[in-house]
Amino acid sequence: MSSIPNIIIAVDGFSSTGKSTFAKLIAAEFSFLYLDSGAMYRGVTLAGLEAGCIKDGKIDEDGLRGIIGPLELHFQRVDGNTKLYLGQRCIESEIRGWEVSQYVSPVSAIPFVREWVDERLHRFSEGGRVIMDGRDIGTTVFPNAELKIFMTADENVRAQRRYDELVAKGEDTTLEAVLQNLRDRDYRDSHRETSPLRQAEDAYVLDNTHMTLHEEVVWMLGLLQGKFGLLESPGLSC
Ligand code: DC
Repeated sequence: MSSIPNIIIAVDGFSSTGKSTFAKLIAAEFSFLYLDSGAMYRGVTLAGLEAGCIKDGKIDEDGLRGIIGPLELHFQRVDGNTKLYLGQRCIESEIRGWEVSQYVSPVSAIPFVREWVDERLHRFSEGGRVIMDGRDIGTTVFPNAELKIFMTADENVRAQRRYDELVAKGEDTTLEAVLQNLRDRDYRDSHRETSPLRQAEDAYVLDNTHMTLHEEVVWMLGLLQGKFGLLESPGLSC
């Protein structure tokens, strides 16, 4: 599989469909750099919360505009994983918390935030051989990506997966609240004016409602073999 060319793989889809788990695994199996575009929006949201530009259910856009310019958000490879840093500080865990999840969708709908994130995603991807997940990677960020995947799954299955993750992290929430947050985010992400979530016309749909992670990787392997004419398969590690 080392003969897969240096391409960009775009993985888009609804919230909690397992995009990042899938993309990370594909990156490890096929030696791609993994970039999580949602983490960038989460990082901006965390910075906004910490600077007091987001509070009491409101976003102070002028305040956010003031802090975003010099924000040192970047990815670093740590033990084979790509993690998000704000300056010297690893914020990978904080950006997955409940408060950031509450605000990230409206923050990501702000056009100047999207411009700022897109510019950095392009910079981080120079040279290709990148798999990136998000909502608009195959439609807006990299409309010429060589391979586009659109992930979906039943919303109850997605909510249960996300709830289990949050509980394992010690967060105090309910399945109903998680399902509502997921519905709200999907609605907002699909209905915003700038770069709404939608399936690119040339995307391959991966519905993983009834699939294991291993089956998803085998599905991808088939796709890569079909597209790039590769016949050898690597020893899958999942
Ligand atoms: O994938 P995620 O849940 O970490 O993404 C967090 C939010 O960021 C999500 O509500 C939608 C937004 N997002 C986006 O608008 N565009 C992207 N390319 C990635 C994420």
